[in-house]
Amino acid sequence: MLINRHLIDPMDFKVEELDEIFSLAEKIIKNPKKYSKICDGKILATLFYEPSTRTRFSFESAMMRLGGNVLGFSEPNSSSASKGETLADTIKMVSIYSDVIAMRHPKEGAARVASLYSKVPVINAGDGGHQHPTQTLTDLLTIKNLKGNLKNKTIGLCGDLKFGRTVHSLIKAMSRYEGNEFILISPKELKVPDYIKEQVLEKNNIKFREVEALEDVIEELDILYMTRIQKERFFNEEEYLRLKDSYILNMEKMDKAKNDMIVMHPLPRVNEIDMEVDNDSRASYFKQAEFGMYVRMALICKLLGVEEC
Ligand code: NCD
Repeated sequence: MLINRHLIDPMDFKVEELDEIFSLAEKIIKNPKKYSKICDGKILATLFYEPSTRTRFSFESAMMRLGGNVLGFSEPNSSSASKGETLADTIKMVSIYSDVIAMRHPKEGAARVASLYSKVPVINAGDGGHQHPTQTLTDLLTIKNLKGNLKNKTIGLCGDLKFGRTVHSLIKAMSRYEGNEFILISPKELKVPDYIKEQVLEKNNIKFREVEALEDVIEELDILYMTRIQKERFFNEEEYLRLKDSYILNMEKMDKAKNDMIVMHPLPRVNEIDMEVDNDSRASYFKQAEFGMYVRMALICKLLGVEEC
């Protein structure tokens, strides 16, 4: 049962529970009208202490398409946080005003802390460079739909693997399905953190390797997951400027890839995927954003325990 649960880390839900969410998302995709009033009278609060367009709009649109209401802020300066209110107090208040909370915060672990003070489910919509479990739901539903299933895939993760929380969450999640292997493509300064390599990949004997050049491995991939260099998490501007153009996916590189490889990206993109790639049938990042809205609709229904009609 997912009712009243928090979603803070991608491992919080069992594989079977994720399947429940995906099958509801698929039902909603087939017949959205049937679900358009199911959250009537319910309120989603979106507390965004960090900039976002996609994730916040995706949550808000999801709730509105279920017939529910939304309140929140997208700018911490417009909330009482700017007066010095603690996160604990804000959450205690907001959990009186709402039925479910989606929260993004620059500090790792903030969503976990919030969940300790909340009377309603808390969804982590990104905590610093740590985790982003609803992007992972989005990514898994996309892979399942476009590649048929979540097993036996060679997944290339490319770009900022150090600060990219979507990457950390996706590695954790895909490690639970059999036969997946990872090729981690990044400059040496932006490698996947050791804790993920040790506690997720090595611990579970999952095949992975780390490389620097995308063109050397692109032909092996079933999925290429591109990411933005996370400018806001760098301590020093010079280092960002040096690394920002590390990878640019263009048609020349795409020509070497399999015909059925899919290109994913959590978005926003800066310059890491050339616009010319958008017209290639393998470019799946806009479709991915669409799956994100439907999977969030399904997640909200499950956490609120609203009946399927
Ligand atoms: C990602 C994030 O916020 O981590 N964006 C998103 O949620 N779609 C990726 C990013 O900002 O690069």
